[in-house]
Amino acid sequence: MKVVIIGGTGLIGSKVVARLRGDGHQAVPASPDTGVNTLTGEGLAQALTGAAVVIDVSNSPSFEDAAVLKFFETSTSNLLAAEAAAGVGHHVALSVVGSDRAPDSGYFRAKIAQEELIRNSSIPYSIVRATQFFEFFKRIADEATDGNTVRIAPVLFQPIAAEDVANAVARVAVSAPVNGIVEIAGPQQFRFDEFIRLGLRARHDPREVVGDSHARYFGTELGERALVPEANARLGEIRFENWLAQSAVPATPAARA
Ligand SMILES: NC(=O)c1ccc[n+]([C@@H]2O[C@H](COP(=O)([O-])OP(=O)(O)OC[C@H]3O[C@@H](n4cnc5c(N)ncnc54)[C@H](OP(=O)(O)O)[C@@H]3O)[C@@H](O)[C@H]2O)c1
Repeated sequence: MKVVIIGGTGLIGSKVVARLRGDGHQAVPASPDTGVNTLTGEGLAQALTGAAVVIDVSNSPSFEDAAVLKFFETSTSNLLAAEAAAGVGHHVALSVVGSDRAPDSGYFRAKIAQEELIRNSSIPYSIVRATQFFEFFKRIADEATDGNTVRIAPVLFQPIAAEDVANAVARVAVSAPVNGIVEIAGPQQFRFDEFIRLGLRARHDPREVVGDSHARYFGTELGERALVPEANARLGEIRFENWLAQSAVPATPAARA
């Protein structure tokens, strides 16, 4: 089956392409890098010709409130219109667990806008909401850093490896549309500050992580369960300590000093 992966050159997208090809599908990555731009519509109609399924794992180059909202509204509208014209039978999008529980975050508001457009379209769909990716821990720490201190709310946190996300998305894409939400998360639950501390320590990063219940996460304060899924979430297999060991980088002399 022909599956077009919008954002197929990105972190999750490239893994989804590999997984689908491994399973014998015609997986076509589509992004500005391959001449397909969902913001301008360039190359879109041609890429979607003959596609049974479209997976949207694109992301906004900017996380600034207005820019990210404009990205997801414009790209999703263009994409859904092109899918309707091409007769695509299943739209799969990757969203974030808890995006409806953090209205002060511009990024989460943009993901909710994306979900609404999908829900209101005529295309059968599946929305996969994932928790935070292991690969994202350093960016989270960088956003929360002031000097040598990283302030993180000590709320529940259940992150997932990109590999597990890609496998779950690929599985959903070749199944019947759920016309609803599937939640996915990692196999372990942490406190958010503990997770970031573990990650930075493993990378020999000297920053100090401080638990602070008022610390903001991309603009929003977090409730105890804001970022964790419901009980029926599908769980990945990769544990954080194994992922850290596999993707380990040697300590630099400066970091060891
Ligand atoms: N980070 C997390 O913890 C997390 C958690 C849950 C869900 N998510 C969701 O996961 C999704 C994928 O994230 P990711 O980290 O894999 O993203 P990523 O690595 O930043 O990749 C983004 C992809 O989007 C493409 N793209 C950018 N502008 C485009 C445009 N105008 N038209 C078509 N494609 C465009 C990029 O193409 P080029 O390479 O050609 O620029 C790239 O392939 C996002 O929707 C995000 O909301 C993230």
